[in-house]
Amino acid sequence: NEGKLWGARFAGGPSPELEALSRSTHFDWRLTPYDLAGSRAHANALHRAGLLSDHDHAELLRGLDVLGEKFAAGDLAPSVQDEDVHGALERLLIEEVGADVGGRLRAGRSRNDQVATLFKMFLRDHGRVITAQVLDLVDALTEQAAAHAGAIMPGRTHLQHAQPVLLSHHLLAHVWPLLRDVSRLADFDARVASDSPYGAGALAGSTLGLDPVGVATELGFTGSSANSIDGTAARDFVAEFAFVSSMIGVDVSRLAEEVILWSTKEFNFATLHDSWSTGSSIMPQKKNPDIAELARGKAGRLIGNLSGLLATLKALPLAYNRDLQEDKEPVFDSVDTLEVLLPAFTGMIATLKFNTARMEELAPQGFSLATDIAEWLVREGTPFRIAHEVAGTCVRVCEENGIELHELTDAQFAEINPALTPAVREVLTIQGSVSARTGRGGTAPVRVAEQLDEVRARVAEL
Ligand code: ARG
Repeated sequence: NEGKLWGARFAGGPSPELEALSRSTHFDWRLTPYDLAGSRAHANALHRAGLLSDHDHAELLRGLDVLGEKFAAGDLAPSVQDEDVHGALERLLIEEVGADVGGRLRAGRSRNDQVATLFKMFLRDHGRVITAQVLDLVDALTEQAAAHAGAIMPGRTHLQHAQPVLLSHHLLAHVWPLLRDVSRLADFDARVASDSPYGAGALAGSTLGLDPVGVATELGFTGSSANSIDGTAARDFVAEFAFVSSMIGVDVSRLAEEVILWSTKEFNFATLHDSWSTGSSIMPQKKNPDIAELARGKAGRLIGNLSGLLATLKALPLAYNRDLQEDKEPVFDSVDTLEVLLPAFTGMIATLKFNTARMEELAPQGFSLATDIAEWLVREGTPFRIAHEVAGTCVRVCEENGIELHELTDAQFAEINPALTPAVREVLTIQGSVSARTGRGGTAPVRVAEQLDEVRARVAEL
């Protein structure tokens, strides 16, 4: 049991099969910088508590620095005998500073409080990376919206033509969910920051008079766990991160799906930039929206990571159980997935070319101005129930005659209902329709210009 963290009470070493099952260094090794930072803070706490001489304290810090430098240089690796990152780093520290000094660091801490703290630090760091990447996507969408201020497109419900809207309004509708995701990440960060588990030990706290608040502060937390059992057993922070990651994936997938539709021959609303689309190995003419499709596909993977994690946590008794080691791979995967997906997706959006002529040609089709006729009648004093019927009749007459609403003659309008004077034509253009929707949050150009300012102000505050 040489080099193991728990050898003495066992008569023989672990079986190779157990070691293979138990080992986590192939995925938790990436926690090394956080483990070393935790060890530094813990060495300082032991020193403050009078449990480490000045010499041993300095030696431990030196050893930890050496390991940090080796790790940064790619020169530090776990061995097959190491169970996890924590055990491996203790072994390597002892190789560096000797067993007498290196063997003092583990006093008053457990891998249980260590791993909970380190995982929080890791997720806080990557939460910031992902926040910046989501904001890059927000920027790309905002710039596309600003660049197409006047363009009108068919707005859809049930994927059917509904009412004309500004393209910029539609693009900004994808921005707001992303800004809420950014705000979710900020909430997550503040909640996690207040709760550093270091000092909780295995589950019950420590007898050694250590200083968990000091350790927390040194590790960038704003407070330490009020309950050592909770500190070591809770993984809701992991589930929360996995949820926000899946929400980002889902939000991005909704835009992805639209890009896929927009770039079809049938829609022809948008053209992908050559550098942000792919070809076919057999069909020479093909140009495929692979980035958008991967975004759509990876949303499923992100959701899977969340559901797998929740299934692991369900009904798990307090406090630490080894099941909890299963919390890391799915969420590492969520982090890696988003960090590789978001920059590509942003590049695709930033370089997307919109075919606004095509959008404007289609915008009035499918009788998308029927609501405008009804609301015009309401403004002229007709009850909405009647107005709805009158506008519906206009649609039926058009369908029977194979024409669009603006092609009805004055006589046909008057015959449908005398309230339909020629003045109704003022709302029978897509420009008239969008300009009239001036309520807050509406698609009128004046409102959308304000909305763009609102988005920019919100982003500037972050
Ligand atoms: N590697 C474990 C994890 O990731 C931490 C070690 C706790 N192990 C234990 N036997 N108490 O959860």
